[in-house]
Amino acid sequence: MSAPLTQDQLKALVGRAALDHVVPGSIVGVGTGSTVNCFIDALAEIKDRIAGAVSSSVASTQRLQAHGIPVLDSNTVERIPVYIDGADEIDGRGCMIKGGGAALTREKIVADLAERFICIADESKRVAVLGRFPLPVEVLPMAAAQVARRFQAAYGGEATVRAGCTTDNGNLILDVRGLQITDPFAMEAEATLWPGVVTVGIFARHRARVCLLGTASGVQTLTF
Ligand code: A5P
Repeated sequence: MSAPLTQDQLKALVGRAALDHVVPGSIVGVGTGSTVNCFIDALAEIKDRIAGAVSSSVASTQRLQAHGIPVLDSNTVERIPVYIDGADEIDGRGCMIKGGGAALTREKIVADLAERFICIADESKRVAVLGRFPLPVEVLPMAAAQVARRFQAAYGGEATVRAGCTTDNGNLILDVRGLQITDPFAMEAEATLWPGVVTVGIFARHRARVCLLGTASGVQTLTF
């Protein structure tokens, strides 16, 4: 019997599987993180068959460019067929927690440009209810304490400023622990309105339509 695949091997597997969802000749939306890095490396092999990429972070832009994949300014792009990104958690409806890599704001912007969000993840990310992973929230620095108090009052969540982290946009990340996100649509809608919140790391409105899940028995395709 062969040894079970490691988490890194599962990431490589789903990163490559995502190539099947790239529309030839199109601009591809590219997320951020270690799973997406595997996708970017695989994408390099078919770079002559795409029109370029729109990137969700400085880190992904650098990796794409190192492979010679053109990165387009998102302001010059109106619509893209697919956005491919990882997740920190994904539930049974395709709703996700994202932002473990602090790129949530640009991720949501690029996801919003796309017809379909294709999530690539190993099976450890699949959950029944979102919230075990601390919810990342990008905030303007002057609102950090105020937003933290709001999470406590509204949802009983304990928010802490992520140490040593400044986002690509010059803001802070709050990580909110102790949440049970049974209604991700409602929490995303409410917390997004709080003054000083730039982006909440709940992706419900921009949920995944497809998830390529790396499992012991190979890539499982979930559709929502
Ligand atoms: C980046 O800010 C995140 O949203 C990532 O997409 C998420 O943290 C998944 O990252 P990994 O693929 O590294 O687990």
